Amino acid sequence: MATERTLSIIKPDAVAKNAIGEIISRFEKAGLKVVAAKMLHLSEEQAGGFYAEHKERPFFKDLVGFMTSGPVVVQVLEGDDAIAKNRDLMGATNPKEAAPGTIRADFAETIDANAVHGSDSPASAEREVAYFFNSDEICPR
Ligand code: PPS
Repeated sequence: MATERTLSIIKPDAVAKNAIGEIISRFEKAGLKVVAAKMLHLSEEQAGGFYAEHKERPFFKDLVGFMTSGPVVVQVLEGDDAIAKNRDLMGATNPKEAAPGTIRADFAETIDANAVHGSDSPASAEREVAYFFNSDEICPR
């Protein structure tokens, strides 16, 4: 299994619920290591750039509005198969379809405010990690 890095975002709804620690604990218990982390209040430009691939989608404006509505915690997670492992821990995009015990099943109510983001492929992970972190802000362990 390859060691990978992936970008995780704890979204404004989960930060507002004081769930940062519980969510990070799930990553760590699953064997993923936090090798970089910061709390940010995204600007419209930052959120819009991050989700640029969705800019023609009907939900884009609301997504940017939600992601700029409060602080987020962005992290780089590292570990064996980190991209898929993180997606498994997160559960389906729509919390109503998320498997029991997943982060979205436990901390999110709607598809618009679904607690966490995780990179969905090696190419996205590379782009998304670089979007938020310089290489000297990542501490391999
Ligand atoms: S899709 O439809 O498969 O392209 O969607 P996906 O790539 O899984 O996720 C798109 C991101 O937009 C957020 N979002 C919504 N998706 C679908 N419908 C609605 N109404 C919606 N509102 C917001 C969704 O949570 C995904 O965000 P991230 O941060 O990537 O998980």
